[in-house]
Parts: sequence; C-alpha cells; structure tokens
Amino acid sequence: MANATVETPLVRFEVEDSIGVITIDNPPVNALGPGVRDGIIEALEQGASDAAVSAMVMIGAGRSFIAGADIRQFGKPRPNPKRPVADVLDHSPKPVVAAIHGYALGGGLEHALACHYRIAVPSAKLGLPEVLIGILPGGGGTQRLPRLIGPKAALEMIVSGRHVPAPEAKALGIIDEIVEGTDLRRAAIAFAQRIADRRPLPRVRDRGDRLAEAAREPDLFETVRKSIARKARGQKAPYHSIACVEAAVTMPFDTGIEMERRLFGELENSEEAKALRYAFFAEREVAKIPGLPKDLALPEIKNAAVVGAGTMGGGIAMSFADYGFAVKLLDASPEILRKGIERIRDNYQTSVKRGSLTAADMDKRLTLIEPVESYEAIADCDAVIEAVFEEMPVKKEVFSRLDQVMKPGALLFSNTSALDIDEIAAATTRPEAVAGTHFFVPANVMKTFEVVNGAQTSPVTLAAAMQLGRAIGKISAYAGNCDGFVANRTRIPFNLEQGLMVEEGARPEQVDRVMVEFGYPVGPFAVNDMSGLDISYATRKRRAAADPSYRSLPITDRLVEMGRLGQKTGAGWYRYRNNDRTPIVDPEVDAVIASVVGELGIPQRQFSDEEILRRLLFSSVNEACRILEEGKALRASDIDVMWLNGFGFPRYRGGLMYWADGIGAREVYNQVAIWHQRYGARWRPSALLQQLAESGGSLREAKGLASV
Ligand code: 3HC
Repeated sequence: MANATVETPLVRFEVEDSIGVITIDNPPVNALGPGVRDGIIEALEQGASDAAVSAMVMIGAGRSFIAGADIRQFGKPRPNPKRPVADVLDHSPKPVVAAIHGYALGGGLEHALACHYRIAVPSAKLGLPEVLIGILPGGGGTQRLPRLIGPKAALEMIVSGRHVPAPEAKALGIIDEIVEGTDLRRAAIAFAQRIADRRPLPRVRDRGDRLAEAAREPDLFETVRKSIARKARGQKAPYHSIACVEAAVTMPFDTGIEMERRLFGELENSEEAKALRYAFFAEREVAKIPGLPKDLALPEIKNAAVVGAGTMGGGIAMSFADYGFAVKLLDASPEILRKGIERIRDNYQTSVKRGSLTAADMDKRLTLIEPVESYEAIADCDAVIEAVFEEMPVKKEVFSRLDQVMKPGALLFSNTSALDIDEIAAATTRPEAVAGTHFFVPANVMKTFEVVNGAQTSPVTLAAAMQLGRAIGKISAYAGNCDGFVANRTRIPFNLEQGLMVEEGARPEQVDRVMVEFGYPVGPFAVNDMSGLDISYATRKRRAAADPSYRSLPITDRLVEMGRLGQKTGAGWYRYRNNDRTPIVDPEVDAVIASVVGELGIPQRQFSDEEILRRLLFSSVNEACRILEEGKALRASDIDVMWLNGFGFPRYRGGLMYWADGIGAREVYNQVAIWHQRYGARWRPSALLQQLAESGGSLREAKGLASV
C-alpha cells in the first residue's frame, strides 16, 4: 500500500501499489487556479523520478475531475506555470492515466487529452466549452482533439461547447474505457498497472490517422463556418476555433499549438470574452439570495401538478416531464384537457421529426404527464403550479380551491406574469406556502424562471421555488412583488417606445433591422407577429379604461381590429406567404400607420439607428434602476440574466445593464434626462441612475435593497 506521500495543498501525490496517484484537490470543481498546474507538474516530476513508480493516475478529489482553467483569473495578470502541463506529459517517460468523474471541461479535458490513456465513470461529462465564454481551447485542445476523434467531430464539440456524456465520448474515441462500480481510483490504479509496461507511449500529438478525414471532405471548414454564420454573428471565438482545427489538419503539431496560443491571447481580453465571462458568473450569482439561511431543510418535490391545460400550462407540464418528474395536468374542461395533451404530443412529435428527441424518450415523457379533471386528483402532489387565465378573480378561485384540497406542506405556486402575488396568497389560509413562479413563453424552452417573493412567502417556500426551477433546468431568479415583477416590468418600456417610435416616423422594419444588427435573433416587431398582436390587446383596453393617462398603442390596436394578428393570420406588422415565416414589408401597414398618425396629428421625422437602439434599451435601463431602487430585484446582474435567458438579448453583449455600463451611467442618465424633458414623465430618471451618474458608479454592479 502507500509507501510515499508528498503533499501540496492543491495537488497530492501518493504512491499506491507502484502507481503514482496525482489528486487535484481545489474545491468546488478543481479549476486550474493559481498553483494547481505547478502542483501537477511537481507531482509528474516526482512520479517520473521515483523508481518505485511504474505509471501514474491523474484524478480529481470531490465531485469532478477538472472543470477547466480558473475563469476568475482571465483578463488579469497572472503567473504562468513553469511549463505547460501538456509539455511535461508529452515528455513523461511513464504512462499517465486520466481518471475522469464529474466534469472534464476546457483545460480539464485538455489535461486528459495530453495523458496517455483516459478512463471515465459512465456519468462523467467531457467538453471544450471555451467558446461559450468567448475564448478557445488554449491548452492544446484544438490540436489534440481532432487527432483523436477526427476534425469533423472535434469541430462539432469545440464550436458547440457541449458537454459530451462519457458513453458517447467512448464511442467517439476520447475515452479508452468506461469504468463501472464506485471506486474510480481503484479501477484507475488497476488500469495503470495493466498498461504500465506498454511502449511506445501513446501520445495524441503523434497521431495523424484521423486527420486524413479532412481530405475526404474538402468543404468541411467552410460548411461549418456557414452553418454558424447566423448564431455566431458578431463573435470571433467560434471562427478562431475553426481556424485552429484547420491548422491541426494542415500544419505540424507545434505550429498548430503556436497558432492556438496566439489566437487564444487575442480572444482573452476581447469585449465578447469579457461580456460572456460576466454572463457566466451572473448566472451563478443569481442563485444566491442574501439573508436566506444556508441550511434550510427544503421539502422534496417528487411529483407536481399544473392547473390549467392551455399553452402555458402544457409547456410547464413538459418542463417537468423533460426532467423526469411525474406531473399531473389538471383542467376542469375535458375538451381543453384533451386539446392540451394533443398540443404537448404535437410539440414532442416536432422534436422527434427534427431529430432532437427519440420516439422512446417522447413516449417516456408523455407517460409522465397525467391528465386529470378534479382537484382531488392532485391533492397529494408536493407542489402545484397554477397556470390559468390571467384574471385575478379566476386566480383567487383556483387558490382557494387548492387551499381546500392540497395536503399540508404542499407548495402553491402561481405562474402569473403580473398579478399581485399577495392578493392571490390571501385567497388561502397558508400564504406562507405561496410564491410566484413565472415561466416565459414557450415554457418548456425558455430558461428564465422568475420566483416572486410575496410578503408572507416563507423562506422555505422561496428557497424551494428557486430549487424547483433549477431542478427542471431553468435559471431561477428572485423578484419582488410588483406590477410586472422584474423581467416584464423592465421590458414594458421597451415595448412602449417601440410602438411610439413608429408613431413618430420610424419604420417597423428599420427598428427590427437595428435590433438584429445589435445581435437579437429576431427584431421586436417580427417577435410580436410570432406571439400574436392580440395577446396584450385586451390588457391594453382594460388598462386604458381604468387609467385615463395610460398610453395605449393605437397602431397595434388598429392592426388587431383589422384581423392582422401576426403570423397565425398571415399578416401583422408584416405580411407572410403560405407556410413561410419570412416577414415581408407590407404597404398596407404603411397605410395604417399613416392614417393613425394623421388622425392623431403626430409630426413625422427620421430616426437614426443609434437613436432607435438607445431609446428602446435606455427606457428599460431606467426602469431596471427604478426596480433596484425599490428593492424589488437583488442585483443588476440578475436583470441581465433574465434578459439573456428570457428575451433573447445577445449574450456576447453581457446583458442590458452590462451593455449600458459600457456606455456609462453618466451618458445614459444625460440622455434619459433629455428625453424626460422632451417626452415627459415616463422618462423621469430613476434616483439610482442619477446617483450612479454623479458618483461614477457601475450599473452592472448595482444592488437592490431587498432583504428577504
Ligand atoms: N473557474 C472558476 N470558477 C468556476 C469554474 C471555473 N472554470 N467552474 C465553476 N466555477 C465555480 C462557479 O463559479 C461556482 O462558484 P460559486 O459557488 O462561488 O458561485 C462553483 O464553481 C460551482 O459551479 P456551478 O454552480 O456552476 O456548479 P454546477 O455543478 O452547476 O456546474 C460546471 C459545474 C458544469 C463545471 C460549471 O460550473 C461550468 O460549466 N463551469 C465552467 C466550465 C468551463 O467553462 N471550463 C472551461 C474554462 S476555460 C479553459 O479551460 C481555458 C483553457 O482552454 C486554457
């Protein structure tokens, strides 16, 4: 057994049964932070010089192998390790086996690729996700992976950044052996003993066989470039990654490595990388609610129910089934229930047709969704999400019914997108068990999951709602209870300015072009056509009736009244040909605009692209500041997370507040103040924005005053 031990805090080296075991121990995910690489090098040198060691194993302590370079260190001056670890591995006189569990990502997988053998447990995930943070694999990954699995598969992995499950990694040729059982370390030592004497040592850098595949597909690189053109607009990292893989095919290994290093250096401090790193950490920060005790015992949610089998309820039920949860879908109307289940089946079938879901998985998911017609049938569910019509009396009736039937301890959530959660909770005798859980449309696709904290929501309910969102693959974000909560409330001014600018002379197609050029996948008017112009028509009419100062959108209303509801009727802000979703500019819309603005006597003028962009987004920035000031959101970065995952804001721009911060609070404030003068009260600058402008403070770091 163990006959030698050298310890560093981050990397341990132990000799067991003539195998040197290098254990990386840098919680929580063994990122390659300061000192880790040097620790690995020391351990490798120790193993190389110890005559009692015949082979080595590299393994991670805790829950992962190595999740990659330490992202917190990027963009900062940092000491380089003595040598690249991969170089040391390439010159190692003894074989090294990477033993992978949890995640082997980025630099983690690159370390494994430089080892001579790789074994993994079935649940391990491997990937090179660098493009997702605006860089490329800079530890030899772009040169070794194509040599190991061929350029085509390597390109797919590197350009998508996806996590590959171990069995697939084995099939691709990344993994030599999948290890069953619970003791990976033991299995790795046994594997290392088996291969200890094999020579020559198999080094990935020496392999050329798989590279020849590129010759059989001369258009490979161009095809991949074309295939990402839309998605990767405005970004360099995916293209630089492709260039490096191309170099792997056309250049000697060391020249390819040099190119990789150079392009990595170019990307590390790019605007895109900074924004994407910010987004990465913002998405982790959003999970944290200050003031919530860390050791809260949360109720386990094994089965859930959704009330209301409309589009939203169906999408929510799918979200549960997609993550393996049994869910009951309740609707008192058998007809709506039948249609709801049909819609769910159709949605899954579309995924099967597209190839993103297998028929077997579709069947599995469908069996998890049980249609029921009575409240009694859901009484013993651990959590229920109400998704009925967005009217307070209807919501109250549902909650009063839920209060009567649901077992003690059940969590009662409402998917309302704007209604007062306290009023809804007041319809029950257990308001502490009530919170808002606001899904975005389509509920089974969109990641943002707004958790609305009512005045009486208990810490357990709040934390359980946040946890539930994560369990079904969403990004949970805290919101205080206010009209529209955080996400929609920040979005409403954008929608209003969008309509008003068209009244003043901007063209819908110009607005859409500006936003698409900014990085949105689709412009806001085209999005309106997709969702249906009638969606907010009733709300606008109701609000206008209740509040004489409410600013309605007469052009949109006129289009709805003409039956132009969007794509579903073949016409909205644009016209659509049969079965084609390409928006076509329609002179009839021009006529509607001209007629409405003529009636209202609104003077017409031209808009610059810059003005359109700023007017849309600054209005939302100002509202976001107001929300923070009121303590209804915890952090500006939470709002960014909501915009990135709920509204299609271009990720490589970091998020609404991050982007505005790039312009600077002072400039944003000055512009908002000018528009306040020109357009009146809706542009009143928020006190927080003013204060940040005066103090030179950071918009992205702004915190709300909420206390939970
Ligand atoms: N660097 C620094 N911190 C990291 C990190 C990394 N690479 N990966 C995770 N963390 C931190 C998180 O910020 C979080 O910290 P917190 O608790 O203080 O908020 C903590 O580790 C746990 O992370 P998660 O909450 O994300 O845990 P999950 O279990 O949900 O996910 C994960 C784990 C899949 C590993 C996910 O954290 C992840 O995707 N990490 C990033 C992986 C990555 O991008 N690797 C490539 C890095 S770049 C690189 O290697 C360059 C190389 O080519 C030279």
